[in-house]
Amino acid sequence: MENNLRALELLKDIYNVDQLLSGKEYIKELVHRLAQILKVKYVLVGHAVEPDRQKIQTDYLWAGSGFADNVVYELEDTPCVNVICGTRVNCYASDVQLAFPKDQMLKDFDVESYIGAPFLHTDGRLIGLLVIMDDKPMEERELYTSVVEFFAARIGTEYRRQAVEDSLRRINENLEKLAQERTLELQRAFESLQQTQKQLISQEKLATIGRITFGIAHELKNPLNIIINSAQLLEEDDLDPESTKKATDMIYQHSQRANTIITNMLRQARQETDMEPEWINISEMLEHCLDVYVRSLTDVDLKTHLVVQKNITPNVYANVFDPPSIERVLINIIDNSLYALGDKYKKNKNSFTPSIKVDLIAADATFKIIVRDNGSGIPQKHLANVCDEFYTTKPAGEGTGLGLWIAKQNVEKNRGEIHIESEENQFTQVTIELPGQQRTQEAQL
Ligand SMILES: Nc1ncnc2c1ncn2[C@@H]1O[C@H](COP(=O)(O)OP(=O)(O)OP(=O)(O)O)[C@@H](O)[C@H]1O
Ligand SMILES: [Mg+2]
Repeated sequence: MENNLRALELLKDIYNVDQLLSGKEYIKELVHRLAQILKVKYVLVGHAVEPDRQKIQTDYLWAGSGFADNVVYELEDTPCVNVICGTRVNCYASDVQLAFPKDQMLKDFDVESYIGAPFLHTDGRLIGLLVIMDDKPMEERELYTSVVEFFAARIGTEYRRQAVEDSLRRINENLEKLAQERTLELQRAFESLQQTQKQLISQEKLATIGRITFGIAHELKNPLNIIINSAQLLEEDDLDPESTKKATDMIYQHSQRANTIITNMLRQARQETDMEPEWINISEMLEHCLDVYVRSLTDVDLKTHLVVQKNITPNVYANVFDPPSIERVLINIIDNSLYALGDKYKKNKNSFTPSIKVDLIAADATFKIIVRDNGSGIPQKHLANVCDEFYTTKPAGEGTGLGLWIAKQNVEKNRGEIHIESEENQFTQVTIELPGQQRTQEAQL
């Protein structure tokens, strides 16, 4: 009974340290208390050195009145070999040097008594050992053995926790290293992206210049054709004064238009955004475009047989940012229809009446222009491509494939839509819808 009480007292005293510390600090304090409370001269805690576990490396070594430098010692011929190999507590309450005469450390420390207990991993593998030694025999052998066994187990828990913390720290360090490497990789990828982007921008600039050049060339084709036709007319010797005046006017008008096209397309290319929408009489613009282009048809045979149907609501006003761009849309659509009609007419002169129908229908806040021809039509499989840049079915020199692409860009830029329906060899119908309204006579004033 008395013994039990003493054991409890001892355990309580030593155990107190549990409440205050953890990890290495805890073990160090525990070693100190064990030495103090059990009144033994030496306490050591060490671990078996891998891979063969034939040596012990001390991690805490209490000697006499304080901690001594840690040592590594061979297990062979020491009492510790039994603790380690047998993985159980070993007690030599006296004469330990007699049992292990070759153990130099026992001699050097003048050790008389020894108790050692192992501590293990949860799966039973050995981690290390706790040893108490004294220069006198140990009288309370059983009590001390229990205490050493108990605290060895407790130290084992700390070592295991330490191992988990170490591996967590290593994982964290690895993660941090990985994160740093990834950041570096990302940084490098980002820099190379920036580099590529710069190259792309300069390529894109070149492409834009090419596009502008093509666009301007394409749009200039029509007024230039008219100017050339009119100039040829002027060369005729017997031209009456009225026709001369008409031809000169055409040259002047379309030179002006060519000039406006260049100015506008350059402005568009610079993406000037300060444009305000303005109202233009789209009915007049449509009438004018249709007249000019039908009149300037060079295929006289086609011109003679062509049926033009017009259903143009008067005084419809479009609300658009860039009126000349809308004029170019109309010209491109009419130009395509006249080409398709000419194409079909060449092949079926006797049985085919070429016809173009142009409607302008106003709704509340929008209007529709519908241009329909009964020309060569577009095969179903190509319908989706006709607005692509450079898509053309015309022979080289006759088409650049930019007309509908420009038309679509211009319509959309002016808040509108373009739709194309067609059936091969039957018809093609292009509808554009834009913001606008029909105005009464008073509203125009
Ligand atoms: N009214 C139409 N009838 C038949 N096919 C058409 C019609 N409009 C367009 N297409 C087809 O769409 C293609 C593309 O038209 P787009 O106006 O973009 O270029 P293009 O007329 O070939 O050349 P460009 O207009 O640059 O001189 C034409 O080549 C033609 O195949
Ligand atoms: Mg075209």
